[in-house]
Amino acid sequence: MTATKDDIEKAARVLRAGGLVALPTETVYGLGANAEDPAAVGRIFEVKGRPPSHPLIVHIASAAQLGDWVEEVPQTARVLAEAFWPGPLTLVLRRGRRVPLEATGGLETVAVRVPDHPVALALLSAFGGGITAPSANRFGSVSPTTADHVRRELGDGVDFVLNGGSCQVGVESTIVDVTADVASILRPGGVTAEDLEAVLGYPPAEPSASPVRVPGQHPSHYAPRGRVVLVEPEKVVAEVELAQELGHRVGVLVPAAFADATVNAHTVVAVPASFAAYARELYGYLHAFDESGCDLIIASLPVEEGLGVAIANRLRRAAGPRPSGNLTAPRA
Ligand code: TXA
Ligand code: MG
Repeated sequence: MTATKDDIEKAARVLRAGGLVALPTETVYGLGANAEDPAAVGRIFEVKGRPPSHPLIVHIASAAQLGDWVEEVPQTARVLAEAFWPGPLTLVLRRGRRVPLEATGGLETVAVRVPDHPVALALLSAFGGGITAPSANRFGSVSPTTADHVRRELGDGVDFVLNGGSCQVGVESTIVDVTADVASILRPGGVTAEDLEAVLGYPPAEPSASPVRVPGQHPSHYAPRGRVVLVEPEKVVAEVELAQELGHRVGVLVPAAFADATVNAHTVVAVPASFAAYARELYGYLHAFDESGCDLIIASLPVEEGLGVAIANRLRRAAGPRPSGNLTAPRA
């Protein structure tokens, strides 16, 4: 059931007391703490199992508050905030003194966004301060897009879960560095490069053009327990057959262009033709493969245009080499 006014007030109290609240946003669910409480911020890292050097995003109630959290608001940031907030865009700026270094992983920059979800916005206004929140999953695994995903993944690690239904965007925010003259995309997400270009008047630079790095973007991220293998779209059906013969419990994301093919796997998902629908459902599909115990997931990359860039980015990372070296080992 969607969070009530009482739930929101309770969540605000939990934040004030130094607790952790899972909150819905339009992208994914976040694991939130009072951004100005270093001890509460520290608990986020513990619960996620995330290295403390990986910075968090500070969520605020409106663009008008941006100046409270950063050293200065450059013109580019003003323009982008005006165009895309509330929405799936995160801006990286120079850190204001109000932001503890615990929240920025020791960096002198801070990532800020205004989420576009009524429950998140109601919580931000009831609480009154900034809420620092990474995605509400354990480090490296698939981000949650429902309150159930959060409860299953974090259990008692979170003091209160606000339910806001299924996330409408489904992939994380686009992170844009606006500390330099030219804006650059550090992580593709819900706002596309084309959307940004339309507002900036020039194409945003690639991540490699920015001196700012996005700590924590490991090759293996957003990964389900089953091993993800990416193949050419036209090879998906044949690969599934081979993997089944080899005895795998196979999950498959059937590319939209091959929706009519007969595919015989343990868990078959036909990918929606629209990128918006695909992005919205992607993490739900990956969670479903885990729930049905698939040890091998076969997929292909979408065309890398518009939201296809963010979808392809997440699929590549889901398929990335894992630190354990054991591709099918379930992680904590
Ligand atoms: O849509 C989203 O962005 C979601 C929702 C909950 O808002 N949050 C999210 O948080 O994806 P997280 O922690 O899973 O990813 C945040 C990314 C990390 O890769 C982090 O390294 C990067 O943002 N980041 C945070 N602060 C940064 C900074 N000052 N400079 C560069 N990258 C930063
Ligand atoms: Mg995350």
